[in-house]
Amino acid sequence: MPEMPRVALAVTGCIGAYKAAEILRLLQQDGVDVRVAMTESAQRFVGPVTFEGLSGHPVITSMWEPSATGAIRHIELAQSIDLLVVAPATANILAKFANGICDDFVTTLYVSTTVPVLVAPAMNVEMLHHPATQENLARLAARGVHIVESGSGYLACGMVGEGRLAEPREIADRALELLHSSSGRRDLEGQRVLVTAGPTRELIDPVRFVTNRSSGRMGYAVAEAAAARGAEVVLVSGPVTIDAPSGVTIVRVETAAEMAKATLERVEWSTLIVKSAAVADYRPTAVADRKIKKSGETMTIELEKTQDILAAVGAVKGDRMLVGFAAETDDLVANARKKLESKNADLIVANDVTLDGAGFDGDTNIAVIVGRNGQADELPMMSKRKLADRILDAALAAAASRVPR
Ligand code: CTP
Repeated sequence: MPEMPRVALAVTGCIGAYKAAEILRLLQQDGVDVRVAMTESAQRFVGPVTFEGLSGHPVITSMWEPSATGAIRHIELAQSIDLLVVAPATANILAKFANGICDDFVTTLYVSTTVPVLVAPAMNVEMLHHPATQENLARLAARGVHIVESGSGYLACGMVGEGRLAEPREIADRALELLHSSSGRRDLEGQRVLVTAGPTRELIDPVRFVTNRSSGRMGYAVAEAAAARGAEVVLVSGPVTIDAPSGVTIVRVETAAEMAKATLERVEWSTLIVKSAAVADYRPTAVADRKIKKSGETMTIELEKTQDILAAVGAVKGDRMLVGFAAETDDLVANARKKLESKNADLIVANDVTLDGAGFDGDTNIAVIVGRNGQADELPMMSKRKLADRILDAALAAAASRVPR
């Protein structure tokens, strides 16, 4: 695979064609070089200029434009990409792919490439359910084509039902997963990775709790990346709304005490521990067993410290690599270094949560990875999935260069 993975994004004619621009951006954020090809009908929905501007490359719209190098364009592109993504994919393009028809650039590209293919169908619900479309999808799946299933919702035709293009984020994630697995990087094979993620909930009474804004995305991305690189992964997760990555064992917990137990029990099993959970630092000293009735104008809840799980793991971890996180608003690196020492971690991933593009919400993060040898690796803004790979790279590098302590 070339240094920068390359994806051909084929856009076909459907009202959701404009969403391909978002898919392109998400892939670019992950360092992917995207080349766009459009069918004739796609150009009736969105102009090639949009994709040309975003991708920084000419958009291929026909078989008959001369190539700058004199090479045969579909063969040239087919041989230079790591993945072909077709989004949105109409009933028509699926039918042509299923039958090997090559009557334009996109269909010819599909037949000429040997790399993985990902299609994201989008069409009217009746078209989707038509036996012809279903048979075509089944044939493509049997041939190894990856399919991002369409979602349900309001369709452009005014109907409600299946057939809506999957969310750009979901399509981009599947594409990245395929790119990573096709890169063949299995450098975590044999490793047992324990990841904690999400917030915790500390009960006040049966209906109220103290929590924080953690979405769990960073830890889930680490779990997904580690599994894609061949590790066995256990993800101890606080309450979040995102789906568990495939191939990962998930242990769901609610409170800091439950997270501490679930984590500490598995330290022995693990070879690498990544503690990205935003554990509540304090919990109410007492949990009322009945709902607290409102009474006075003010109310005070007394809080007590929870167990610092990272420090507890640090105390018993032995030779295992331990990665902690630090969410800071001031003196990022200095505070991260203090945490590294006080919690006996090997790496701290620190982020300034006041920056746009960093922190709890959103798909991106801006981090500094602080290590034991004094290194502080300042990373630019990148997707949490990409940062997850950088964190795992740093953990492997630290393990390889570790001076026994
Ligand atoms: N952590 C933990 N158990 C806690 C609190 C935090 O394991 N009870 C872990 C988190 O998973 C994270 C790191 O410790 O890896 C964060 O360190 P923490 O000391 O909580 O720092 P911040 O939350 O960044 O805030 P503060 O500086 O206020 O301590």
